[in-house]
Amino acid sequence: MAIRLVTTADSLRAQSRLLLTQKNGSSLGLVPTMGALHAGHGRLARAAVEQNDVVVTSIFVNPLQFGEAQDLDRYPRTLEADVALLEEQGVDLVFAPSVEEMYPGGQPMVRVTSGPLGEKWEGASRPGHFDGALTVVAKLLHYGIPGTGLPGGGQPAYRAYFGQKDAQQLALVQRMVADLNFPVEIVPVPIVRSADGLALSSRNRFLSEDERQAALVLSRALRLLEDRAGAHEPLDVESAQALVRSQPLVELDYFEVVDPRTLEPLAENCRHTPFRGEALAIIAAKVGPVRLIDNVPLNS
Ligand code: PAJ
Repeated sequence: MAIRLVTTADSLRAQSRLLLTQKNGSSLGLVPTMGALHAGHGRLARAAVEQNDVVVTSIFVNPLQFGEAQDLDRYPRTLEADVALLEEQGVDLVFAPSVEEMYPGGQPMVRVTSGPLGEKWEGASRPGHFDGALTVVAKLLHYGIPGTGLPGGGQPAYRAYFGQKDAQQLALVQRMVADLNFPVEIVPVPIVRSADGLALSSRNRFLSEDERQAALVLSRALRLLEDRAGAHEPLDVESAQALVRSQPLVELDYFEVVDPRTLEPLAENCRHTPFRGEALAIIAAKVGPVRLIDNVPLNS
């Protein structure tokens, strides 16, 4: 079936209901994105297609989560190519609303507050970012709720897909859904990287060739910690941080080992004694005009 594009919440509801009935489906997957899609988004879409009868992808560059107007204006918009990529993955429906459709009365007065978890790491350098992101995710999750009952009674399964690339966003969405009882299962999807290790991002296109080469130090430093954790060695975060700092084109913001759910730094002694347990190494740095984030789960 050819992919369909809708731009209003009403047509999204009508079409997803129709598709569920036509396909005799019992599950719906939602993949929220801001477009400028790459293979990382493709992997989310593919996972959703494999696990659900009907899959909706939203494409909306959400003004609420951008700090500088400049960043919002230059965010790449490539709708035609995005729809083609999603069709290739087997997505049924694309929801690409205008700003007026999402925020009819202007910016919403009542918003989701991300709390202390939204104020650290990415939140510290992008104030208000996660409140804006959670507010639009809340709206999208509501729009996506399958509005049709199953023939034998009951409701279709409802799943939404988020990349581990944005580990803090994922942790916050999981908290929001748990704390506010959203009727949806959040499915995390692993990071997709280019062959040389760089985590795919819609903003990578703004890197010069030199900057792109320099940016590889992020994934290299993370891999160093991953290897040490796997070998039950002390993580020696300081030496990994020093590796990143040795790259002149890279301006390190943070590089820490944290608890994967709370994103609180692990106790100091976990860094110097042989590593055991479960953690997440997170990194953010500015490379040229671009702020890059990356992370790797540490398991021993
Ligand atoms: P966006 O940056 O377009 O990302 C959409 C989804 O794709 C997110 O869940 C993100 O984690 C995932 N993703 C991006 N790059 C990835 C990669 N290399 N590997 C795996 N997954 C990747 O995140 C947003 O949009 C917005 O904040 C949104 C949730 C849509 C709310 O506006």
